Amino acid sequence: MMNGDVRVPRAVRFSRYGGPEVLEVVQVPRPSPGPGQVLVKVIVAPVNPGEIGIREGVFADLWPAAFPEGQGNDLAGQVVEVGQDVMGFAPGDEVVGYAPRRAQADYVVHDAATLARKPPVLCWEEAAPLSAVGVTAWAGVEAVLPRPGETVVVSAAAGGVGVLAAQLARLRGATVVGTVGPHNLDFARSLGITPVLHGPGLAERLRAAAPNGVDAFIDTFGAGNVQAAIDLGVPPRRINTIADGAAVRRYGVRSQAQEDAFSPELVERLAALVGERRLSVPIHAVYPLERVRDAYVELARRHTRGKIVLSLVLSPDDGPQAG
Ligand SMILES: NC(=O)c1ccc[n+]([C@@H]2O[C@H](COP(=O)([O-])OP(=O)(O)OC[C@H]3O[C@@H](n4cnc5c(N)ncnc54)[C@H](OP(=O)(O)O)[C@@H]3O)[C@@H](O)[C@H]2O)c1
Repeated sequence: MMNGDVRVPRAVRFSRYGGPEVLEVVQVPRPSPGPGQVLVKVIVAPVNPGEIGIREGVFADLWPAAFPEGQGNDLAGQVVEVGQDVMGFAPGDEVVGYAPRRAQADYVVHDAATLARKPPVLCWEEAAPLSAVGVTAWAGVEAVLPRPGETVVVSAAAGGVGVLAAQLARLRGATVVGTVGPHNLDFARSLGITPVLHGPGLAERLRAAAPNGVDAFIDTFGAGNVQAAIDLGVPPRRINTIADGAAVRRYGVRSQAQEDAFSPELVERLAALVGERRLSVPIHAVYPLERVRDAYVELARRHTRGKIVLSLVLSPDDGPQAG
């Protein structure tokens, strides 16, 4: 669904650190692409847990906000203008991008060199998350290099990163055990993942689910998962976490993430897997941009199955739509 050119462009902004109530959808000028840049009309922009930390000021020492701060990272949309010296993109092209702290806006200026092409067969919702959780999942899997016949555990295997990491590990020929809540047992099985409940006593349940041992562990949640992997005897070089910096320092486990793997070619490779229906991007809910606060409230519950995304083309009067 496209609503054409936007007369009064909108963007998500916040002007102080705080809860979802600090988020505003404001009117902004339409930006212009400079040399080597394109202007993207954003159709879908996902929400990610890391953005909550930035907005709450948790990472203010490391990544301070510049108020009024924008929000969002990953996006899918259509090229509407190209700047000087841009080769290979033209208005109308469907693209997947990564625009840190500014993706949740009608228009985003994006470097042409880091923009990926979106295959038309992909819907906007399943394409948009590929440059963030898609690349992060790929990085985690490649960090531990699962081999055919090995058993790999993925924590939070129904979540944004976890559900993709689990499928990518399976595509490498591994048997995947995924940790989930009780409501996701059947969902995990539907993707060929052996489900194990997360929470206290995890190491024991994993031992029972993988009696021949666990070869590698991809942690996408923190909360003691790396400790469980160590307790199971997984070598630190075959453990990757994107959510437990203390465990990285303590055990020397790996921490490969989005920034270590991103390239437009990788995004296009992941998009091809989705297009071939070998990789599924479950969509938990689609919120109109105006309901950005509600989207983050739901995300913060940390029981998202796949992704929650914002639609820039849904009417503000539309409620969230189940994916
Ligand atoms: N550095 C990077 O490049 C990068 C990129 C993306 C994400 N990240 C980080 O990676 C982490 C995961 O992101 P995400 O987008 O995948 O998160 P998410 O989608 O919000 O994760 C939700 C999942 O967490 C599971 N979960 C809830 N409580 C749990 C528990 N106690 N133990 C294990 N799993 C539990 C839920 O499972 P059930 O509903 O089945 O209970 C749900 O499937 C975040 O910390 C995020 O900041 C880092």
